[in-house]
Amino acid sequence: MKATLRYLAGMAGPSGFGSNSTAEQVTEDCSSFLPSAALTALITGASSGIGAETARVLAKRGVRVVIAARDLKKATEVKKNIQKETPKAEVILLEIDLGSFGSVQRFCSEFLALELPLNILINNAGMFSQNLEFSEDKIEMTFATNYLGSFLILDLFLIRVYIKIEIIVIYSLINTHHRSAYILWMLLLCYYIM
Ligand SMILES: NC(=O)c1ccc[n+]([C@@H]2O[C@H](COP(=O)([O-])OP(=O)(O)OC[C@H]3O[C@@H](n4cnc5c(N)ncnc54)[C@H](OP(=O)(O)O)[C@@H]3O)[C@@H](O)[C@H]2O)c1
Repeated sequence: MKATLRYLAGMAGPSGFGSNSTAEQVTEDCSSFLPSAALTALITGASSGIGAETARVLAKRGVRVVIAARDLKKATEVKKNIQKETPKAEVILLEIDLGSFGSVQRFCSEFLALELPLNILINNAGMFSQNLEFSEDKIEMTFATNYLGSFLILDLFLIRVYIKIEIIVIYSLINTHHRSAYILWMLLLCYYIM
């Protein structure tokens, strides 16, 4: 109850940040302890919302960002906006439809072909289907997209190759407020970097 009230009021917690804090505020001091070689972050669903904001702020902090998106047109806009703000930002776009095992497999092959390190994995993409829909693999769409697709990236492909690399899987647990979710991402990022 107390925690809920603090959250609603935007009061800072032990970390010094609260639900009113932005990703930029949370990562402001990260550059002092970022490694000199660029980290690579793979973010699914970064064509809008929390994913796009996460990509923007990570790129601003010098992280190489790979945006995995279903809609490459939207992702191109996100990339343009990031590079308008941070001209040196390295942003790579790859296509993925998490609701299709075939697409996830193609995406993983393309990502692996880039021969980049994978330092941060943000499995952000997700949707909620109001109707009973099925993926091309004949699995209920929300489950296929939010769980199986993300799991496939992590478990069946990347973890085998990047077995020695620390991977963070972050999933938004917060229901109401975008900024709170940014904070969740960013605190976990800071935790990883430290
Ligand atoms: N915002 C909240 O309060 C909240 C609360 C609970 C959970 N979440 C979760 O947090 C994540 C981000 O939320 P958000 O508010 O930023 O949502 P959003 O703006 O709707 O963004 C969702 C992203 O996921 C992508 N996506 C959806 N289905 C996909 C698929 N089959 N393959 C590839 N990409 C797909 C979307 O791509 P398209 O542009 O192609 O549709 C979009 O880029 C989601 O997983 C959401 O479920 C958010």
